[in-house]
Amino acid sequence: MELLKPYKLGKLELRNRFVMAPMTTYSGENDFHVSSEELLYYEARSKSLGMVLTAATSINEQAQAFDKQITLKDDRYIPTMAVLAKVIQNQGAKAVVQLHHGGRMNVPALYKDQSNIVSASAIKAPREGLATPRALETEEVKQTINDFVKATERAIKAGYDGVELHGANTYLLQQFFSPHSNRRSDQYGGSLEKRMRFAVEMIQAARACIEKHATKPFVLGYRFSPEELETPGITISDTVAFVKKLKTLPLDFLHISLGHYKQTSMRDQADKKPIVDYIQEALNGEIPLIGVGQIETLKDAEDALQSGYDLLAVGMPLIADPDWVETIKQGGLNKVVRPTTLPRPLFDRLYKNRQWFAKRGYTFELE
Ligand SMILES: Cc1cc2nc3c(=O)[nH]c(=O)nc-3n(C[C@H](O)[C@H](O)[C@H](O)COP(=O)(O)O)c2cc1C
Repeated sequence: MELLKPYKLGKLELRNRFVMAPMTTYSGENDFHVSSEELLYYEARSKSLGMVLTAATSINEQAQAFDKQITLKDDRYIPTMAVLAKVIQNQGAKAVVQLHHGGRMNVPALYKDQSNIVSASAIKAPREGLATPRALETEEVKQTINDFVKATERAIKAGYDGVELHGANTYLLQQFFSPHSNRRSDQYGGSLEKRMRFAVEMIQAARACIEKHATKPFVLGYRFSPEELETPGITISDTVAFVKKLKTLPLDFLHISLGHYKQTSMRDQADKKPIVDYIQEALNGEIPLIGVGQIETLKDAEDALQSGYDLLAVGMPLIADPDWVETIKQGGLNKVVRPTTLPRPLFDRLYKNRQWFAKRGYTFELE
């Protein structure tokens, strides 16, 4: 079966095409170091996957979006992040850190000084409980790119196999690409091309950093969301133009964030063409594409591979079942979320918001 055969991603050899989707755990230590509960959580899930994408990892003091979010904002986090890399790699999976800045999505309560909630422009996200961000000065934009690059260098020093730049799910990189949150008039906004510049410069600078510092294969990927609902907002046609640009850049993979791997447009309900078809027409197979979204059974996985993805990322099924790959190989599926296999803060958070998982048919077991 193609899915379970080794796959070459850039210069990395993955033992199969299954990837753990990046998932925030809310379970770091109070000082943002990786906790022992998180190490156990990743260890249990790494043993049959090709690659593990870590939880979103903050890159500077203005980046933190979640409580107890892990970080690479400073050299002093390298040793504990290195332990996480080793834990994943010891189980035979490649370890890739997702680098993240929350921008205007940052929870205000996490910031004493609200001027540290920043974005492309001073436009509040249309969600309750968030603050109006401060627009980054042009020099600060360059500094933020540099902070992503410094975090990439730390990921190399910590022994990771790559980084994924988190350009999806409404966070800072997406905020620069979005015509809703980016109303800038400097070189980082104003036209579609200029809205791409933040990501483009970051990718080029991260690659230069990898070439300078990496002593073993180290991949660079970019995650994106193809649309957003705001008006104005990112459309599929914007994303097609973006993907055409991205494929000219030194990336080893792209990762599309979708609720379902065969999802069609949210903005244009009459459009029945799966988004992956638009992306693949633009990509032309030139860069490997990771798909995600409701891949739960072996049949789903085979179908997703046929749909045009090269690697398959899996989220909720791995929350419920650390042995998900083995389970589906045997034709099973476990949709019960148990506290014994998750860091306690993660379990509590998911249980509190259990409607999210319930909509997908997951139930919760208490103790
Ligand atoms: C608990 C949880 C935390 C998540 N955190 C992140 C994250 O840190 N970064 C990210 O890009 N996506 C995050 N996601 C989205 C997942 O990566 C994935 O795209 C989504 O769950 C859909 O895949 P699934 O249907 O296999 O769950 C998170 C999802 C869940 C369930």
